Amino acid sequence: MMNEALAQTDPEMADVLTRELDRQQNTLVLIPSENYASKAVLLASGCIMTNKYAEGSPGKRYYNGCELVDRAESLAIERATELFGCDHVNVQPLTGAVANMAAYDALLEDGDTILAMELNHGGHLTHGHPLNFSGRWYNCISYGVTRDAEVIDYDQLRSLAREHQPKLIVAGASAYPRIMEFERFREVADEVGAYLMADIAHVAGLIVADEHPDPIPHCDVVTTTTHKTLRGPRAAIIMCRQEHAQAIDRAVFPGIQSGPQMHVVAAKAVAFKEALSPDFKEYQHQIVLNAKAIAQSLMDQGFRLVSGGTDNHLMLVDLSDKGITGRDAADRLEQAGICVNKNLVPFDTQSPVVTSGIRPGSPAVTTRGMKEPEMTLIGELMARVLDAGDDAFVIAEVREKVRELCERFPIYTDL
Ligand SMILES: Cc1ncc(COP(=O)(O)O)c(C=O)c1O
Repeated sequence: MMNEALAQTDPEMADVLTRELDRQQNTLVLIPSENYASKAVLLASGCIMTNKYAEGSPGKRYYNGCELVDRAESLAIERATELFGCDHVNVQPLTGAVANMAAYDALLEDGDTILAMELNHGGHLTHGHPLNFSGRWYNCISYGVTRDAEVIDYDQLRSLAREHQPKLIVAGASAYPRIMEFERFREVADEVGAYLMADIAHVAGLIVADEHPDPIPHCDVVTTTTHKTLRGPRAAIIMCRQEHAQAIDRAVFPGIQSGPQMHVVAAKAVAFKEALSPDFKEYQHQIVLNAKAIAQSLMDQGFRLVSGGTDNHLMLVDLSDKGITGRDAADRLEQAGICVNKNLVPFDTQSPVVTSGIRPGSPAVTTRGMKEPEMTLIGELMARVLDAGDDAFVIAEVREKVRELCERFPIYTDL
């Protein structure tokens, strides 16, 4: 990918990209929203369709010369429909945040009430954070997890729904290690006459591989990013029941976006083809096994996991009894070549920039081909670093072991 044209035109940027490839190769990426897209997806993301304007949809464009971008978008639509089993899909959203914005815009008026998951309990910014468009344009009420089991409090969900009569309930999270029971959300939505939307940005890959319950039969609208467990390009899609199709399409264009990024739409089509393969199912199954193995390894080393483990691709490690904040833990792990993100834990007393936890996950290391023995080792290495204080010797020793592990499981060998 790092071809001569780039090196000649912009040696400085070529050098940055070479070093980023080296960083990705020699780091254990445990950020659960990151992954290594295939070479085919990377190539499509950087393809000649970046040159093409294509406002509109296949067969109904505002520009000429769209025959082949129409084909690319139709392939993405056909494959996403088959993959998720949805009535209708819009494959143009640029990001997960934009997909959520369009979904709310299609279903709601400004000021309407949304009931969504509390950010501190695992929800996303676009689920009602006061500084985000969601919290500013809509009246957002939050449900959370129980104090004891740290799983979604469906009783609280029901009583908040009865009290606030939301027009939309959002089921979905960025940092929730357990499965979401979409039928229970549907029961509550039906009781109060609300629309139900699932934001499956994190667990989309698990869902299409039957490793997580399927929201499609229960939801009016389902949004997802395409770059996390789904392992496609950095973007999103919106699926919906037929009755919402026109409103969703209009909300995306001309409501929010103008020209779609057709190179990324092409890359989404490639990713959906990959996700339809039997290999992808195996990959998702291994993601879950691997997450459970990291979780077990960390618990064996004395770490407390929110809700006591994981059902999916990620876990939340509560460090509050370890004398280290999430921020310091993530920084220290990075020195040892292990890349995680700091994260709030439920009922956290720290601020979102400090936090009491970290959120490790298995999608990227599973793409490298690692299995349970490597996950157990990763848990042990993390524990050594987190228990080491500022001991530079331990950090250097772990850094070396991480490098060896990364060398055994290379990425993009022919780039
Ligand atoms: C649940 C959820 N929804 C939406 C998004 C937003 O995706 P993007 O970063 O592409 O805007 C994220 C990203 O982390 C997410 O976790």
